[in-house]
Amino acid sequence: MAVDYSRRAADYDRVRADETTDREFWLRGLIEVGGLRNRERVLDIGAGTGRFAKLLCETNPVVALDSETAMLKIARTKGSFECVRGDGRRLPFRADTFDLAMIVMVLHHLGDYAAALREIARVAHRVVVATSDMATRRLGILEEAFPSLLAIDRERFPSIPAVLDAFEAAGFHDAVVRERAYARRLTTEEQLDRVRHRYLSTFDLLPPGEYERGLRFLEAEMPRRYRDGFEITAQFTFVGATK
Ligand SMILES: C[S@@+](CC[C@H](N)C(=O)[O-])C[C@H]1O[C@@H](n2cnc3c(N)ncnc32)[C@H](O)[C@@H]1O
Repeated sequence: MAVDYSRRAADYDRVRADETTDREFWLRGLIEVGGLRNRERVLDIGAGTGRFAKLLCETNPVVALDSETAMLKIARTKGSFECVRGDGRRLPFRADTFDLAMIVMVLHHLGDYAAALREIARVAHRVVVATSDMATRRLGILEEAFPSLLAIDRERFPSIPAVLDAFEAAGFHDAVVRERAYARRLTTEEQLDRVRHRYLSTFDLLPPGEYERGLRFLEAEMPRRYRDGFEITAQFTFVGATK
């Protein structure tokens, strides 16, 4: 089942984005692993609300591509980059239009991601993917609240070895894999607000009733356990390669 981002667009930035983390964690990882230099042309596939296109367009020409009109409508308000509605699996660009294609938390939405990577290799010289490695992913109290969540994500997120195989098959070589440690401190109420606004797309895929039961559990349990605040610690994996 596909996740419907049209209903998420209005709250997306409030519950997911944080400019310091976006710049220091995500953008820095994308630039380092993608080997991006100023003025190189970038295609952001599944760019959503343009979080990274907005930051990158200060130094690089960027095209933000997404399949969801409501997400792009927000991206269009953010800065001087081009927004294109399209499918990441059928890119409406000529061969070798971009120096770098980036894909941030999108690969698991693409279905046949190996075919998508072949299409990306047609239009870009290098690629950088940011994703979750389900072999190591832990979700703390969220696993207690939503017992099916991790199993669902293990099914839909490609493993890192599978991503590397798909890179090779698409013609991308010299892959670099980097784990980056992510840490963010929120108040308990801020984290509950994120859950209420379904900040993980997997919440839409839980069996009937599990989201509602899990939210009630968190509303009762989190203030008791995390009076002074809630620390999110995670690892995200950045994989880059070149043609
Ligand atoms: C988890 S969001 C990530 C957005 C952005 N990269 C970020 O990190 O803020 C996933 C995005 O992928 C987009 N998406 C899903 N399937 C797509 C496809 N086949 N082609 C292009 N975009 C797609 C969704 O509309 C959504 O904006």
